[in-house]
Amino acid sequence: MSTNGQALDAALGVNPLREGLSFQEAPPGHTLIIFGGSGDLAARKLIPALYNLERNALLPSSLAVVGLGRRPMDDESYRARQLEATTSFSRTGKPDPELWNAFQQGLYYVRGDFSTHAGYEDLKRELADIETRHGTGGNRIFYLATQPSLFPEIIRLLGETGLNRGPGTTRIVIEKPFGRDLATALDLNAIANDVFDESQIYRIDHYLGKETVQNVLVLRFANVIFEPVWNRRYIDSVQITVAESVGLEGRGTYYEEAGVLRDMVQNHIMQLFALVAMEPPVDFQADSIRDEKVKVLRALRHLEPDQVASNVMRASYGAGFVEGREVPAYRDEDGVAPDSTTETYFASRFFIDNWRWKGVPFYLRSGKRLAKRASEIAIQFNEVPHLLFGESNPDGVPPNVLALRIQPDEGVSITFEAKQPGLGMRVRPVRMDFGYGQSFAEESPDAYERLLLDVMLGDQTLFIRRDETEAAWRAVMPILEAWEGDPVSRLPTYEAGRWGPRQAGDLLRADGFRWRRL
Ligand code: BG6
Repeated sequence: MSTNGQALDAALGVNPLREGLSFQEAPPGHTLIIFGGSGDLAARKLIPALYNLERNALLPSSLAVVGLGRRPMDDESYRARQLEATTSFSRTGKPDPELWNAFQQGLYYVRGDFSTHAGYEDLKRELADIETRHGTGGNRIFYLATQPSLFPEIIRLLGETGLNRGPGTTRIVIEKPFGRDLATALDLNAIANDVFDESQIYRIDHYLGKETVQNVLVLRFANVIFEPVWNRRYIDSVQITVAESVGLEGRGTYYEEAGVLRDMVQNHIMQLFALVAMEPPVDFQADSIRDEKVKVLRALRHLEPDQVASNVMRASYGAGFVEGREVPAYRDEDGVAPDSTTETYFASRFFIDNWRWKGVPFYLRSGKRLAKRASEIAIQFNEVPHLLFGESNPDGVPPNVLALRIQPDEGVSITFEAKQPGLGMRVRPVRMDFGYGQSFAEESPDAYERLLLDVMLGDQTLFIRRDETEAAWRAVMPILEAWEGDPVSRLPTYEAGRWGPRQAGDLLRADGFRWRRL
């Protein structure tokens, strides 16, 4: 946004962070109840996000946050722990003492055993007390941030103890991974939709809260120049990369059970894919957008078991150096079996069987311990039908590429051809670049800030609907089934700190493409 734009916003009283949300009024009072309140997600993401919302005066005037857990702790020590965590993980650094002090007055810890009715009955009493103290109007958000295997039981017990219907609005946020395959996702949906109405359920995928991910929709549907060429007539291929340099970050036990297919592909990458490939929705209402995403996920061509090996590549990292630091092989990480065959790298080729995309390959890749953290969606256009400058450019000219950089260095670039200065007609690719950091003065909110606010506002646009999560699982099930049906004793490896296994290039080479260098 330009400086003029900001001045205009200030004059109009528009808060830039809230601009674009469908509700302009402040959210009503709420109590946010976090199952897994003393865990990692609360400390790294949820509490820092809430603090930053408070810092930007975006929280309701009455908000209470109740962390639930088994560890013995009182409110004071919970607050101290969360201050420490927020100091380490907040995007705005060390909290302002005065602001934090006001914020922490609403932070509580309730210890209990949440596998029994008694735990929930105690919680009810605590909630009644806290709600009166803070005047939250009885609006409740239950946030499931425990290990995923506990989700069904918590939901069931919330239902059995009547906590699915509170004195005000009641909503539930369910973290990913949503099930570990289609069958468990169906089961989880069955119980969630039995206890809660779909309008109360917020299945979260934090990639949808990223500004640059939402920008995919703006780029496609707020400009006239892209949509006419956004189809098989002009697009040769699409590459979606979500590369991470980090390893397991202490989550070896979880990751061993998940692997990159469940951890990143079924959710984050499928969401990126759906936003790039979906048809224009009729409006910006939650269900209009989700209808289109479901349609395109359903149009993904299912791989037959004998097609998996030639369209999908998996591997796990060996030892190496990442950002100058020596790191162990995946099999030597804490919580990982020495003979593990869990994949930390995934690459695949997908096709969409619909009018817009028939025949256009979508190449997806994601991995841990890669050369750097870089996520990008790259649209490669066709070559020109007839090259006029062939004599001066005997090797042809590279095709146009539109690259949407999701993170870091968020922005969009277009590569196109230009005449190289001189007497001949040599053609060279050049790049036109838009960078968020340069064009907009304000820093983007963290994905969790946006999403937590949306839950309080009752806006489901950036959350996954029941049929959407099922469609995304259906898309990846043939791969999981093929892997499970043909177990291997060892996966190919790649050196940590590199761009993945050599064989991943073969997928594209066969079609005359290469992975982009990021
Ligand atoms: C999480 C995964 O959902 O996303 C992690 O469980 C991964 O394994 C993380 O590291 C990546 O998120 P971001 O926002 O850092 O790209």
